[in-house]
Amino acid sequence: MALFITFEGGEGSGKSTQAGELHQRMSQEAIPVFVTHEPGGTPLGDEVSHWLKWQDGIEVSPLTELLLFNAARNQLVDKVIRPELAAGKTIICDRFADSTTVYQGYGRGVDLAVVRTVNDAATQGIRPDLTVLLDISVADGMSRKKSEPADRFEKEDVAFHERVRQGYLKLAAEEPGCWLVIDASQSREKVAEIIWQRVRQLIRQKIEAERA
Ligand code: TMP
Repeated sequence: MALFITFEGGEGSGKSTQAGELHQRMSQEAIPVFVTHEPGGTPLGDEVSHWLKWQDGIEVSPLTELLLFNAARNQLVDKVIRPELAAGKTIICDRFADSTTVYQGYGRGVDLAVVRTVNDAATQGIRPDLTVLLDISVADGMSRKKSEPADRFEKEDVAFHERVRQGYLKLAAEEPGCWLVIDASQSREKVAEIIWQRVRQLIRQKIEAERA
C-alpha cells in the first residue's frame, strides 16, 4: 500500500510543518513512509533549488525557470519517488508539479499547455493520490514569514502571490476528488487533524481496493 501525497500552498501557509506532522503521525502508526520536498530532495535538486531561490543579478526567463524546476523534479522522481513507491512506501512530498503550474504558469505567465507538457515529461506519469492545499491570504502568509530573509519568490509583489493563490484554488476546483483544501489560518493541531482524517480514509479505501 503506497500512497503519494503532496502538499501545496503559498508562502507562509505551513506546508512544511504539516508535511512533517503527517510524517510523524504515519510513522507512529507504523506505516512505511518517506518525506521529501521540492525544489530539492536530491543533491542535484538542492543545487538547482538554491540557485533558483537565492541567485541575484541574473535575469531568469520564465521558461528557463520552468525547465530548471522540472530538471530537479525529474531527478527526484527517478532517484527517490519512483524507487520508494516501488518499495511500498508512502511518499509525502512538500510541493510537486502543481507548484510549477501555479508559480511559472499562473504567476509568471508561461503558457499552461507548455507547463503541462514539461511537467508531464518530468513526472513520468506519477500523480498524487491526494494533494493537500493549505490556503491562506497573501497578507497573512507573508506576515508569518517576515522575520526570515526573503528569497527571489518571496520578493515578488502581492499581485504575483495572489495569482499563485487563485491558481491553486482553480486547480483544486477542477479536480475536487484529488484535492483537500484547508483554511490554513486555523491552528496547527486542527489542520493536522483534518489532514490525518482524510489520509486515514484514503488508506482504508486503498486497502479495500487491494483486497477486492
Ligand atoms: P519553499 O522551499 O519555501 O517551498 O520555496 C520554494 C520556492 O520555489 C517557493 O517560493 C515556490 C517556488 N517554486 C516554483 O516557483 N516552482 C516550482 O515548481 C517549485 C517546486 C517551487
